[in-house]
Amino acid sequence: MQNFLKIAQLGQPVLRQCSSAVAVENLAGDRALQALGDQLLAVTRAADGVGLAAPQIGVPLRVIAIASRPNARYPHAPLLPPTLLFNPRLVKTSRDREQDWEGCLSVPGIRGRVWRHQTITVAYRDRHGCPQQRELTGFAARIVQHELDHLDGILFVDRLVSERDCFTEAEYQQLQKQAAAREPGAASRV
Ligand code: NI
Repeated sequence: MQNFLKIAQLGQPVLRQCSSAVAVENLAGDRALQALGDQLLAVTRAADGVGLAAPQIGVPLRVIAIASRPNARYPHAPLLPPTLLFNPRLVKTSRDREQDWEGCLSVPGIRGRVWRHQTITVAYRDRHGCPQQRELTGFAARIVQHELDHLDGILFVDRLVSERDCFTEAEYQQLQKQAAAREPGAASRV
């Protein structure tokens, strides 16, 4: 958690602004953007996050990192190798949506239940500047939608299913334990 203090916290204006697209023509040779990408991946890893958006480290540019693996904050997270997405945008979303719990490194200590599209297709440039397109579903799709929101100044607390679906971390953990006891294996779908 040594990088935790570098993460912008709820209330800081950078989290509420719309981020700018990056120049992708010479992405592979752009030292500043490559360094930004490295930093995003490093902070995600250090803070046990499953994703991070550049504004969260104070840089209002359209770059996100996703790097999901089961960890203390998300024990049921799928395995998703660390990936940088430059200028990501949704090109397709499923009509089906689902609710699940989210947290955010910029909103510490709070969990909330949020609707997200079940399946999405995201188009982006990879760190070599190559256009990529990827279809993701479930929790992985949720991570990308959460991070894309950050680029438009939107936080998960803006999208709660209801104000009552907002818990402290301790109460959320309690809820997960109860759910796991009721129905083993279903803890991530309370
Ligand atoms: Ni977040």
